Amino acid sequence: MSAPFLRLGVNIDHVATVRNARGGAVPDPVRAALLAIEAGADGITAHLREDRRHIRDEDMARLKREISRPLNFEMAATDEMVAIALHTRPHASCLVPEKRSERTTEGGLDVAGAHDRLKVITTELARAGMRVSLFIEPSLDALEAAKSIGAPVVELHTGAWCDALTHGQQEKADHEFGRIRVAAARAAELGIECHAGHGLDYATARKIASLPQVVELNIGHFLIGEAIFVGLGEAIRRMRAAMDEGRRVAG
Ligand code: PXP
Repeated sequence: MSAPFLRLGVNIDHVATVRNARGGAVPDPVRAALLAIEAGADGITAHLREDRRHIRDEDMARLKREISRPLNFEMAATDEMVAIALHTRPHASCLVPEKRSERTTEGGLDVAGAHDRLKVITTELARAGMRVSLFIEPSLDALEAAKSIGAPVVELHTGAWCDALTHGQQEKADHEFGRIRVAAARAAELGIECHAGHGLDYATARKIASLPQVVELNIGHFLIGEAIFVGLGEAIRRMRAAMDEGRRVAG
C-alpha cells in the first residue's frame, strides 16, 4: 500500500512579526496566506499567542473569511483562546503549551499533567466541528495520554531533532529522529492521525516525509526566511518538491 498524501500547512506567523516590527499594515499575513495557497499549500496555520506578538485577532477573522483552504488555529489551552476558536470556527485547532518568555513553542504539552482540562477543551472544540490536535513531544507516554483524552490528531514536536542537526550533534539527532519514528508508528496503532512540525527545513521535511504515518507537516519560520531569498511561492514549491521526494521513499 502506498503512503497517504502528505499535506503541507504553511504557518504565516512571521509575516505578522515583520509587519508588527513597524506597527503598520504590511506585510499582510492574509496576502501571504493567499499566495501560499496559490503556490501549493494545503492549509494555513496561524498561532494567536496570548501576547499577540505576531498574529492578531483580526488576522484570524480575516484568514477564516478570505482563504479557500483549511485554517489551522494554534492556540494555548485557555478560556480566552477557546472562546475565540468557538467564535472563529477554523477547520482545525492545535493545542500548544505557551510561555510568555519563550521565543517559540519550546516543548510539547504536558498531556498527562493537564489531562482533565485538555480533555474538556478537546471535547468542546471537537463538538463545535474542529479537528483537534495536541502538540506533543514524540514520546509514548504523551501518545497514551493523548489517546486517553480522545484526541483524534497529534502533532509531534520536531524541534529537538532539528536543533540537534543545526548544532552538528549527529548522534543526538539520530536519537531524536528515532523517537519521532517510533511515536509516528505508535500513533497509527492507536488510531491517532499524526502530524509533525517545528524547525523543519527542506532537508528535514524530506526526511520526515519518509515516515508513512505522518500525513501533515506545519512549517513556518524556515519558509518565511527562504521567501526573502527566493520568494514565498518558490520556497513553497521547493518545499513541496522536497516532501514529495521524501514520500517516494515511503511509498
Ligand atoms: N507546529 C506548531 C504546533 C508550532 O507551534 C509551530 C511554531 O509556531 C510550528 C508548527 C511551525 O514551526 P516553525 O515556525 O519552526 O516551522
